[in-house]
Amino acid sequence: MSFYITTPIYYVNAQPHLGHAYTIIASDVLARHMRQRGEDVFFLTGTDEHGEPVADAARAQGLEPKELADRNAARFQALAPQLEASNDFFIRTSDEPHMAAVQAVLQRVHDNGHTYKGIYEGWYCPRCADFKVENEILEGNLCPIHEIRLTREQEENWFFRLSTFQQPLEQLYADHPDFVMPEHHYNEARSFIGQGLQDVSLTRARLKWGVPVPWDSSQVFYVWFDALLNYYTALSYARPGENLTTRFWPATYHIIGKDILKFHTVFWPALLMAAELALPHHVFVHGFLLGADGRKMSKSLGNVLDPFEVIDRYGTDALRFYLMRDVAFGGDGAVGMDAVDSRYESELANEYGNLASRTIAMVSRYRDRLVPEAELDPTLAAEFEVLPSQVSALLDCAEPTQALELIWQRVRRLNRYVEERAPWQLAKEPARAAELDQTLASLSEGVRALSVMLHPYMPAATTRLLEALGRSGTAFTAARFGTQNGGATVRALEPLFPKHT
Ligand code: MSP
Repeated sequence: MSFYITTPIYYVNAQPHLGHAYTIIASDVLARHMRQRGEDVFFLTGTDEHGEPVADAARAQGLEPKELADRNAARFQALAPQLEASNDFFIRTSDEPHMAAVQAVLQRVHDNGHTYKGIYEGWYCPRCADFKVENEILEGNLCPIHEIRLTREQEENWFFRLSTFQQPLEQLYADHPDFVMPEHHYNEARSFIGQGLQDVSLTRARLKWGVPVPWDSSQVFYVWFDALLNYYTALSYARPGENLTTRFWPATYHIIGKDILKFHTVFWPALLMAAELALPHHVFVHGFLLGADGRKMSKSLGNVLDPFEVIDRYGTDALRFYLMRDVAFGGDGAVGMDAVDSRYESELANEYGNLASRTIAMVSRYRDRLVPEAELDPTLAAEFEVLPSQVSALLDCAEPTQALELIWQRVRRLNRYVEERAPWQLAKEPARAAELDQTLASLSEGVRALSVMLHPYMPAATTRLLEALGRSGTAFTAARFGTQNGGATVRALEPLFPKHT
């Protein structure tokens, strides 16, 4: 089956921060898991380079928009490997083939009669690149997100007849309760549509930094339409000489933050309908990462968690684990260095890391590095039995935090198993050699199976551990407890998560 997953494409007016890293990591966990299951996966991320957010930032720095875009796009491009993201392509909306494809799709929307020329007058936030309606504007004419003064815009441009998609969108939501996930965001989107849709500007007259409108050279497309279409256009040129569109379209999951819900759950499906293209299966909306003080992260409040600092101090796996573990995916959550430190010490170093080193050390000491072949502990086997199917069912619904919690319960279970069985006692009693064999075999098998399931979350540490266990396969079929039994030779393992002094 094909599985196509996307992150938002990021504005290049600023440098990457933890919020961007968060969506990339979550999407990567899902993409890696699906690859483990043998699905045909395509994972896309990239940068959004046109429109006022970039043009204004460039002007403020005395640069051409393209110069600023090149400079910051390179930083986002470098971010993906630093996060161990396994994206299959990185799209930039300044790519020529993207721009040509945007023109082709929107020309079709125009030819299908979904546009008209009109006068737009209203309030606009240049940082959101969004037109604000009266009831969302803060007192003093401020943007509800950026709290900056809105500009009064009046210009002649092309409109997209969003209002004519009211009924088809209502039908979409009625037919597909999982079009938007989780449910509270489905309800939010549905009620937005229920309030009645107004037509929206499709083009801008004054702006030059954008994709030119093919049927009116005085205009460029409004950046959001150009940006949304990246999910579709990328497939047509990501692989030179090959068009991946029929293989991967429509997308399985668009993963987004809640700040851009309206665009993805209302504008986007309407635009696709207007262009006669298939709709994505799901839009999953996650929450905001907040500062440790529970307030929105911002440089001026000094509560920003820098992903690069976390990576330097604790490593990429720890950052990935922390974000998937500490903030329930789909909700808001506070993050901070103290919390990273405490999860790192208590869970990664003491629970998983320690379990791994104990297991390998005991197999080395008591069985000369050879994992014994023995009947696996039936109680443990029963407790592990349903885990892989539960994990994959949760990841099918984009619930990485819940899946991780179930896996972690078994990490703890194995640590208790070590205490219960006390292999160091068994080793002193030759008559209990069979019991010791069973304990070591079950433990090694448990650690191995869990590491396969943890692999999408912590690719580097699990790879090292699986190699040390002499079993490097990460296909999801190997997540079942009991697929391997004995016979492997373990190798010494440096601490997976060294303690910090
Ligand atoms: N360019 C648009 C998106 C176009 S998609 C067709 C945009 N870019 S952005 O650079 O502002 O990135 C917004 C996205 O970054 C959010 O939707 C979310 O995925 C991520 N985050 C940015 N800040 C965040 C937090 N504080 N917390 C969680 N995610 C955040 O909007």
